[in-house]
Amino acid sequence: MYSVRNVTKDLYWVGANDHRLSLFENIHPIPKGVSYNAYVLLDEKTVLFDTVDWSVCRQFLENLDHVLDGRPLDYMIINHMEPDHGASIEEILLRYPDVTIISTEKAFMLMRQFGFAIEGHTLEEVKEKDTKCFGSHTVTFLAAPMVHWPEAMVTFDVTNGALFSADAFGTFGALDGKLFNDEVNFDRDWIDDARRYYTNIVGKYGPHVQLLLKKATGIVNDIKYICPLHGPVWRSDFAYLLDKYDRWSRYEPEEKGILIAYASMYGNTEAAASALAAKLCEKGMTNVVMYDVSNTHVSYLISEAFHYSHVVLASVTYNLGIYPVMHNFLMDMKALNLQNRTFAIVENGSWACKSGDLMERFIQDEMKKMTVLNTRLSLASSLKSEKSHELDSLVDVILESMEEKK
Ligand code: FEO
Repeated sequence: MYSVRNVTKDLYWVGANDHRLSLFENIHPIPKGVSYNAYVLLDEKTVLFDTVDWSVCRQFLENLDHVLDGRPLDYMIINHMEPDHGASIEEILLRYPDVTIISTEKAFMLMRQFGFAIEGHTLEEVKEKDTKCFGSHTVTFLAAPMVHWPEAMVTFDVTNGALFSADAFGTFGALDGKLFNDEVNFDRDWIDDARRYYTNIVGKYGPHVQLLLKKATGIVNDIKYICPLHGPVWRSDFAYLLDKYDRWSRYEPEEKGILIAYASMYGNTEAAASALAAKLCEKGMTNVVMYDVSNTHVSYLISEAFHYSHVVLASVTYNLGIYPVMHNFLMDMKALNLQNRTFAIVENGSWACKSGDLMERFIQDEMKKMTVLNTRLSLASSLKSEKSHELDSLVDVILESMEEKK
């Protein structure tokens, strides 16, 4: 059975949801599933905007067939050919062999590299600011390199104001019948997954997202719909979404608050992290979240590190080094280009406490524009009551640094 939604009277969502995939890109958990969005425009010509992941291809083909209702498919615009969207291109070519594929030079190069059978079909290469008319609708193409792959572009329909934004403005989470942002409570139910999607998938490419946002300022008053490749279609509250993207891509925290990420073997480092959290709350800073790095997928830690202004790393020493899972978190923060955060360190070691120096060195040498507070809490196996003044000092230094950043 087909399952489609109208975006406008002649633009249809023909995508599908996947609840069975457990790891997006085979690495990021998606307990709420994911949607792969594709859209069809019925004008004098028929136009498909992107395809879907192979896992939901059958549903997508049924949706497309229903919307076309016997009409041929004239054009297929590929904004992003990564296989979670491009995997069904060949199926479209098998069923609609006369379709013209419109995409960028790099996208066609990558399609060939992935072995997509596009030879013998009509390929139309477009570049920045090219336009194309399909009858009453005219679209313009804008390059969006590295949002999230180098071949990506976005397409803007100047007639109805629909921006087909590729991975930009997407999110994890299946749509489950809802399509528009005003049909969900985004700030309550979706923002954590949207942040986790952005920061882990596109987070590294902040400067490229900033370039795209700057390009969008030229058309922002004409945008009526933002149609991403994952998650809800936006038709209101653009300022909310653009503000999030602007902050994330400038590596500015969304909130003044503290992520405490701890690595604990026998519960002693965890106890110190808990004592620190309690003291912070006692002194009025209640915007504190705590995660055990061993039991939390790193994609959630990354998302929270982008969310908050301060990060406390509390780690046991392991093989005279940083606890491996904490080290992995540090490497992921570096890989995703996180900047502009203030770090505090809690270290633990029973005979040769090294983790604090090593974490500090990693942050100072390997990451950009980070501050490490001078005061550190150092434990020998466990936190003793005689260390309570050191704990108080660390709390005060963290709170002072939050004041300074007002
Ligand atoms: Fe949703 Fe970069 O693919």
